Amino acid sequence: MQFKEKKVNIECKNVYKIFKQGNLEVVALRNINIKINQGEIVVVMGPSGSGKTTLLNLISGMVEPTAGKIYVDGRDVTKLRDDEIQKHLQKKIGIVFQFFNLVPSLTAKGNIELPLIISDAPTSYRKQRVEELLKEVDIKDRANHRPFSLSGGEKQRVAIASAIANDPLILLADEPTGNIDSIAEKKVMEIFRNYIDLNSEKSLVIVTHNANLRKIADRTLILKDGQIIRELGKQNIDKGKSDGNGISEEAEAMNHVYDEAEKVFNPAFRMQEFKEIKACPLCHSENILKKWDQERGQFQIINNQITTRATIFCKDCHQISFENCAVYDITRDLV
Ligand SMILES: Nc1ncnc2c1ncn2[C@@H]1O[C@H](COP(=O)(O)OP(=O)(O)OP(=O)(O)O)[C@@H](O)[C@H]1O
Ligand SMILES: [Mg+2]
Repeated sequence: MQFKEKKVNIECKNVYKIFKQGNLEVVALRNINIKINQGEIVVVMGPSGSGKTTLLNLISGMVEPTAGKIYVDGRDVTKLRDDEIQKHLQKKIGIVFQFFNLVPSLTAKGNIELPLIISDAPTSYRKQRVEELLKEVDIKDRANHRPFSLSGGEKQRVAIASAIANDPLILLADEPTGNIDSIAEKKVMEIFRNYIDLNSEKSLVIVTHNANLRKIADRTLILKDGQIIRELGKQNIDKGKSDGNGISEEAEAMNHVYDEAEKVFNPAFRMQEFKEIKACPLCHSENILKKWDQERGQFQIINNQITTRATIFCKDCHQISFENCAVYDITRDLV
């Protein structure tokens, strides 16, 4: 049986972005190669300054790459000075920002209608589309309110409706849950997932610090110092249930076990070597929890030496990993 290949909506090929500030050069992105297919939600995570926003700005055409090629819906959009390319990008891409970017003097309805007016949609279609969108983001009862009287979550829903009003092929979101509470966050995640499930030709790229958003992602890319250093698949939600801090219950339980183990274990051995672990071995983030792996059963004995491992839980990439970190000599102590 032959499987139909999914269409690639976004492709970055050997993309670099270097910002020049006087004599200083900041390499914001280096050698980025990604393909984002139709029907996919891709989350991009990474520490502050790792290049997440720059990546979105390159895809949306707000910034031109220093080197490399970017394709949006099959078209090379690298040279942004071309009017045709600008029009292509405007048509294909919708953007959701962290700070909502709503027009304060317009009502929720007015903000949603604005992109339709800009794109010259006929009045009758505009009215019908606005009604559809109000329903889609569940904000009908607040339609006539201006942004100042809307909550953060409501503002973000209006911003999403406005970003999808012209039915873009690609939706980009920069830290879309950065300024809303956890209930509003859930709602935004639900709207995003439904949007892609109901429109299987479309793609959504979310850049964020919020590991909860991985729950709706088909893939997660980890950026560090301008490079993609790791790609994670769908999160196993049962295993990695998150609490509000993005720390999984599994990791919390693991910490408890190791705390107990530390109390009963008294290493009578001389430590010969010790390696301090400061960062996640997978994504290099320093935002980690770690515990010595001191349960007896898990020691490795190699050449009359005990090696212990540290267990590391990364709050950024949400993975658990192990590193050998201390070596004890047992030849003398055990005879
Ligand atoms: N217009 C610019 N001029 C100069 N340097 C810039 C510019 N935009 C971004 N940078 C630099 O590029 C790097 C990547 O920035 P970017 O905003 O993409 O990071 P980010 O991952 O989105 O960070 P955050 O999580 O804080 O939003 C940073 O070192 C930043 O200072
Ligand atoms: Mg950013």
